[in-house]
Amino acid sequence: MKTARISDRVYYIGVNDRTTHKFEGMWPLPNGVSYNSYLVVGSEKTAIIDGVEVSHAFQQIDEIKSILGDRQPDYLIINHMEPDHSGAIRLLRQEFPEITIVSNTQALNMVHGFYGVDGNTLTVKEGETISLGKETTLSFTMTPMVHWPETMVTYLMEEKTLFSGDAFGCFGALNGAVIDTEMNTDPYFPEMLRYYSNIVGKYGVFVQKALKKLEGTPIETICSTHGPIWREKIAEVISLYDRLSRYEPLDNGVTIVYGSMYGNTEHMAEAAAEALAERGVRDITMLNASVTDVSFIIAEIFRHRGLVIAAPTYSDGLFPPVAAVMDAIAVRGVKNREVALIGSYTWAPQAIKVMTQRIEACGLTNVAAPVSIKQSATGDDLTICREAAAILARKLTAE
Ligand code: FEO
Repeated sequence: MKTARISDRVYYIGVNDRTTHKFEGMWPLPNGVSYNSYLVVGSEKTAIIDGVEVSHAFQQIDEIKSILGDRQPDYLIINHMEPDHSGAIRLLRQEFPEITIVSNTQALNMVHGFYGVDGNTLTVKEGETISLGKETTLSFTMTPMVHWPETMVTYLMEEKTLFSGDAFGCFGALNGAVIDTEMNTDPYFPEMLRYYSNIVGKYGVFVQKALKKLEGTPIETICSTHGPIWREKIAEVISLYDRLSRYEPLDNGVTIVYGSMYGNTEHMAEAAAEALAERGVRDITMLNASVTDVSFIIAEIFRHRGLVIAAPTYSDGLFPPVAAVMDAIAVRGVKNREVALIGSYTWAPQAIKVMTQRIEACGLTNVAAPVSIKQSATGDDLTICREAAAILARKLTAE
């Protein structure tokens, strides 16, 4: 992609990936993803901030050379060592042997561990600064577990620009423009919800700590490692990360996740959906766990306050596609949701037992009495499903 100038001193030197099917080998990328990287050019020194995934290394090296000409990059500043940002380190060091790799102790240990790269490193600690020359000062703030333990952010003090690593990032390649003021950002917000809930969702407490740490810092530009550069919508983006990391639902809608082998459990889930709609719940997302990737399901669970889970017994346990969703809920420590459970079975009512135990273990509450329906749902059975959904609807519409 073309090199974009963010300011007099800062260039965008990131890349788009529309080839990889699944981020981290797990999370679908229907809209691609960008690996954002930046070049800060000071009067005396230059610094690359964050890198790109290894298959795009030569593209980035060409861009660096086209900007710097005869100058060499002096520093490579690593905010985060996950290989989507660090994969090109060895090639950068080979191309620019004098470059000093800058990060905290933990990250520099990972540079050795992942890439066998040593020597000419500079360890920075909380609050320390590096000057690149006239009015170009970079400061460093440690933000562990946003998203790995070594994570930090870099701040260009004179321009009030925060290089935030994964924080405030989203899925979605950049289609021409890189700054939010120059594009329609609407498609990126659902991808921010999915990125946050999939990738960072377990670490809400740490995101909150990082937000508190940065509270007094004036920020005019956010340069994250994925998605648009934020200027116009900084408040919106910080607010979204703040709410999501508090596990605060974004609306009073309901996610219905169900698994169904022959349509009987689906029939029960449909009855619940109808009852919710009849009682005024307007935003209902109904997802078949056998069809929809857990990536999209967990994003909807982060969005809506209400959650209905319906599943049959399978092999004396819970239907595996729904069990995978419950794993995802537990791993992320999802809180503040109103839940209704519907189990179905042919001869062993295990599904509702497993779901009830797992929901309780997550600290969530089943708002209605557990529903467990044998074989196909009759009229009375469907009424029970509707009643459970009605209790959930009352909870949601009362608030
Ligand atoms: Fe974009 Fe945690 O790496």
